[in-house]
Amino acid sequence: MDGLGTETAFEVVNRVQALQKEGRSIVELHIGAPDFRTPENVVEAGRKALADGWHKYTPAKGLPVLREAIAEYCGRFHRAKVHPDHVLVVPGGKPTLFYAAMMFCEPGTEALYPNPGFPIYESAIRLCGATPVPIELHEEKGFAFSADEVLAKITPRTRLLVLNSPANPTGGVTPRKELDRLASGLERFPQVAILSDEIYSRLTYDGAEHVSMLSYPALRERTILLDGWSKTYAMTGWRMGFGVWPAELVAHAERLQINSVSCVNAAAQIAGLEALTGSQDPVERMRQAFDERRKLIVQELNDIPGFRCTTPKGAFYAFPNVTGTGVRSRELETKLLQRAGVSCLSGTSFGALGEGYLRFSYANSAEQIREGMRRVRECLQPA
Ligand SMILES: Cc1ncc(COP(=O)(O)O)c(C=O)c1O
Repeated sequence: MDGLGTETAFEVVNRVQALQKEGRSIVELHIGAPDFRTPENVVEAGRKALADGWHKYTPAKGLPVLREAIAEYCGRFHRAKVHPDHVLVVPGGKPTLFYAAMMFCEPGTEALYPNPGFPIYESAIRLCGATPVPIELHEEKGFAFSADEVLAKITPRTRLLVLNSPANPTGGVTPRKELDRLASGLERFPQVAILSDEIYSRLTYDGAEHVSMLSYPALRERTILLDGWSKTYAMTGWRMGFGVWPAELVAHAERLQINSVSCVNAAAQIAGLEALTGSQDPVERMRQAFDERRKLIVQELNDIPGFRCTTPKGAFYAFPNVTGTGVRSRELETKLLQRAGVSCLSGTSFGALGEGYLRFSYANSAEQIREGMRRVRECLQPA
């Protein structure tokens, strides 16, 4: 258990709530959840499912009709032909990661993961006893992966490669050219399974293309796709996610599910079905709103002395370099919360390589973003 990390976002939530209880006004820019409500047609489908009697266990892998819809969804949005038998519906994005880590990570093996990156990758790898090997992401490259750097880190002990594009916390999107290069290089390392976390795949901007690792036929027998409803459909609290597993692994993943959570809430699955098969207009409306806020926050961050922010191409996070302030990231996170009433996350919440950065979520209104940036500027003004 000592190896288990955490997502400090959940701790910051507690600190923010404690300050709010004292009457403090906090501009919340730490949250990795859309501020929108789940689209109404989806809420209604969930409500109706409860009224209609969806109260029992479902098959562990998920309702067949939902798995068929997910297979169709993968054809549309990941450009990959997926058989419904290979789909496992899970409670959120995280279980797919944990099941993959339990299968491939054990003492004596290594697993590659992005750094700065979603903190649960390193945590799950460590918990299962493997050695986590960071893939360094660089600001100069827009925090995209470099295929050559990834390939250079593979050793005979490497069993799992975790990829994430568009990425948390950086908003980096890895371009097709780099992924093509990575995919062809990986053919030399058949012992490496790939866990591709594409939970932000529907949130790209400036024409950035999302390329799914599932779309590389040569890697299909060892690629696991992690995706879900949380970010795309503003459904973080519903706990709905799915994995697409290679033929050889899906029965093992199903067993892990039976051993742990049995199945996903039945009514939530019906709501998830409506999300995938109903109008996609709400997704586009949310994306456009995020896009506008993205432009606003990047401009505002670049106006703050000591801050320098590259323009993220995906997700809903800005990841400014704050080394110009001369203050370490964690200290700055605390100072901004305590003194300015603005919550954000230290880059080090996402790995050691996040030192010198802060993560601001722009899943909040333009007014709140403006107010937050005004407070940060004022707080950091030289006396
Ligand atoms: C990159 C990434 N993967 C997975 C998840 C987990 O998603 P969920 O809340 O659906 O478990 C998150 C949530 O923040 C994330 O940022």
